[in-house]
Amino acid sequence: MKIAIVGCGSRHKMFSGSVVEDYADKHEIVALCDSNAHRLGLASKAVPKPGTNGVATYLAPDFDRLIEEQKPDTIVVATPDFLHSDYIVRAFEAGCDVICEKPLTIDLTRLKQILEAQERTGQKVMVTFNYRYSPARTQIKQLLASGTIGTVTAVDFRWHLDRVHGADYFRRWHRQKENSGGLLVHKSTHHFDLLNWWLNSAPSDVYASGRRAFYHPEMAVELGLSDRGARCADCQVSDKCAFHLDLEGDAELASLYREAEADDGYYRDLCVFDAEIGIEDTMQAHIRYASGVTANYTLTAYSPWEGLEIKFQGTKGDITHRHVEVHGVFGGERAHAGDEAVTTELHLAGEEPRMLDVPLGEGHHGGADPVMLGYIFDPDNMEPDQYGRASDHVAGGWSILTGIAANASIETGSAVNVQSMLRARGIRLAALGT
Ligand SMILES: NC(=O)c1ccc[n+]([C@@H]2O[C@H](COP(=O)([O-])OP(=O)(O)OC[C@H]3O[C@@H](n4cnc5c(N)ncnc54)[C@H](O)[C@@H]3O)[C@@H](O)[C@H]2O)c1
Repeated sequence: MKIAIVGCGSRHKMFSGSVVEDYADKHEIVALCDSNAHRLGLASKAVPKPGTNGVATYLAPDFDRLIEEQKPDTIVVATPDFLHSDYIVRAFEAGCDVICEKPLTIDLTRLKQILEAQERTGQKVMVTFNYRYSPARTQIKQLLASGTIGTVTAVDFRWHLDRVHGADYFRRWHRQKENSGGLLVHKSTHHFDLLNWWLNSAPSDVYASGRRAFYHPEMAVELGLSDRGARCADCQVSDKCAFHLDLEGDAELASLYREAEADDGYYRDLCVFDAEIGIEDTMQAHIRYASGVTANYTLTAYSPWEGLEIKFQGTKGDITHRHVEVHGVFGGERAHAGDEAVTTELHLAGEEPRMLDVPLGEGHHGGADPVMLGYIFDPDNMEPDQYGRASDHVAGGWSILTGIAANASIETGSAVNVQSMLRARGIRLAALGT
């Protein structure tokens, strides 16, 4: 496969590193594209091309020329979320397939553009839902699909982002809904995708609440940070702020972001307590699925610990899964540094509850990333995927619809029927499961 990557920030490294280090005999990165010349230069250094002047690089306005000159088969899209749709549509129109970072996109207008371009061109997009591939999450799919707890009836799902990982969404582009769709789209796309996949169904009705309860100016005052600056780099109270991100104290942050600022004014360390932040940090949704299952969902972004807790209630018993996660994000002190704990308890009616052996994987996101990369770049050497983990435009579309409906519900205060929402915008999306 001839691959071009657009968006050469932090996440693109997973793709470029994987191709260069593990799959160079099968695939080639033929070009890189970014709006920031500094980051583009850094990215190209990491893609060695023996005997040449290096991999071809293109600034964002030259993306179409990239396709014309380098003729990639596949475009990896790893830009900020609001830009995904534009690159997907242009890639499709030029005859390329796409591997897209989550979320597929952030709103209905852009979703419609992607679906129409897909129908017109027949090209494919794979959304990289790495969480599906973590062995612990695959085990749950297996348990539910085999009817271990009978018919699933109700779910309680809580995801906690801690004060390091959670805070990071309030520092940069994610902090405005027009860039990320808010956390109910940007982050919860993973969680709602897991629910859709686990339950083999799609959301039909969503009622949600959400507010910014922690990352706001009054909290800064409460924490004794009244003299805070607009960004960490020139903040007078950084020495007493638990959310201080030292761009210069970390070699990777310094080279990827601090030294690239002059090109585009992208500041990676804006104050998490800014008044102008437009996303919520406390969100709850009640979701009804087409299959009849109902789910309660909570996402917070300032928890003292990071991880997920989920309970599936079934007609024969229940499954309770808990994962204390520590992500390798930048800055802050972690309460659970180096510690990962995953448990799954099965409790069948009339029996004692028992802890299951949970398979664990090596690598990022609970062992998910390496497995997913294997299926993307070397599927012939992987076991057949009996769990249907690869996600296309349909799964990608459904995974954002719960969050888009939740955002609409927060705005209006009313429950949102997903099919009515789609009909009103003339969007046709194939059904998902039952
Ligand atoms: N699946 C996961 O676990 C996971 C983890 C992290 C990020 N992501 C996703 O990866 C994507 C990128 O996130 P990130 O953390 O790397 O962000 P980032 O800000 O580090 O990188 C984004 C890059 O896109 C570039 N860019 C901005 N505008 C552009 C344009 N018009 N054309 C081309 N390039 C442009 C920026 O200069 C930057 O280099 C997001 O969609 C995010 O949701 C997924």
